[in-house]
Amino acid sequence: MAVSNPPGGGILIASGPWDPVPWGDAVRAMDPTRPVFTWPDLPDARAVRYVMAWHPPEAALAALPSLDVIFSLGAGVEHVLSRRNLPDVPVVRIVSDDLTERMTEWVTLQVLMHHRQQRRYDRLQRERRWHELRQPAASEMRVGIMGMGVLGVSAAKVLVALGFQVAGWSRRPKAIPGVESFHGDAGLDPFLARTDILVALLPLTPETRGLLAMPLFRKLARSGGLGGPVLINAGRGGLQVEGDIVRAIGEGVLIGASLDVFETEPLDPASPLWGFENVVVTPHCAGWSDPMELTRQIMEQIAAFEAGRPLRNVVDRAASY
Ligand code: NDP
Ligand code: OXD
Repeated sequence: MAVSNPPGGGILIASGPWDPVPWGDAVRAMDPTRPVFTWPDLPDARAVRYVMAWHPPEAALAALPSLDVIFSLGAGVEHVLSRRNLPDVPVVRIVSDDLTERMTEWVTLQVLMHHRQQRRYDRLQRERRWHELRQPAASEMRVGIMGMGVLGVSAAKVLVALGFQVAGWSRRPKAIPGVESFHGDAGLDPFLARTDILVALLPLTPETRGLLAMPLFRKLARSGGLGGPVLINAGRGGLQVEGDIVRAIGEGVLIGASLDVFETEPLDPASPLWGFENVVVTPHCAGWSDPMELTRQIMEQIAAFEAGRPLRNVVDRAASY
């Protein structure tokens, strides 16, 4: 007689603004017998041991008596940790080569776009004008990365390889070959003073909220080869004060920006940020989340957990929000 294993613990997909269908399909493709629910369609809350969450509604996390783990569908976790009455279970974040490589591509693209003055060449092309701009070497440009975690370190290594002078700012000091390390409150001003292109890859926490504002922009170097500093933010929109970015671009305090994340997403069509030639706006796609790839990681973690092995990438709640 054939013996079939009982299905593993059920998974609830609470993906907020994202379409849950590809995530549910990915789970079913990898484990056809496991119960999968899609919020708010939850006939049996007791069957749920895991939640796959992206901006989960608070109600989706309440009243799950068998819940064991919440898996963030991103590297960031503020969209889970900020929920009221968050169940006292481990919250696991995504750490994935796929996501890291995508983010590194986006950051590198934006640094090079500003460094090589591509937006100005785009205008010259529209005007059919053959005109060369003075081009500083990468070795003359100082890139400063705020947030030297998984993503910051990966971007730093590529930018070092391209010849930029790279520094990082984090809570604790780092030893990364070719990268100058600054840390903590005391390290922030000297870090900004040597930075021509500022890249934000910080998580959103009470300490980092609203950091990217006019007082900080005014502390950036103005002596670099582009004639002023550039802001690149792919961390979270809550890091930035958009009114200040608009003002800083208008007043020349910043000479350009690339923004993938916004205070409110989607960005309001009326936002002035859309209209600047030297501001690149992308729709929170820098680290495009591939449902198959990220679900594969989560399913591996669930399999390990159900076999009694420890979870990886568990978030330290006290340090994270
Ligand atoms: P990590 O947790 O690996 O790294 C976070 C870094 O930020 C660490 O170096 C940490 O310092 C530093 N940091 C945190 N708080 C402070 C602070 N108060 N002062 C100084 N430094 C601080 O995160 P990841 O690199 O994986 O991801 C970073 C963020 O990128 C995510 O939280 C998410 O918001 C965003 N993201 C955006 C995506 C997009 O598509 N736009 C995609 C993926 C992620 P220390 O090392 O000393 O602890
Ligand atoms: C993430 C994101 O946090 O995509 O992974 O923003």
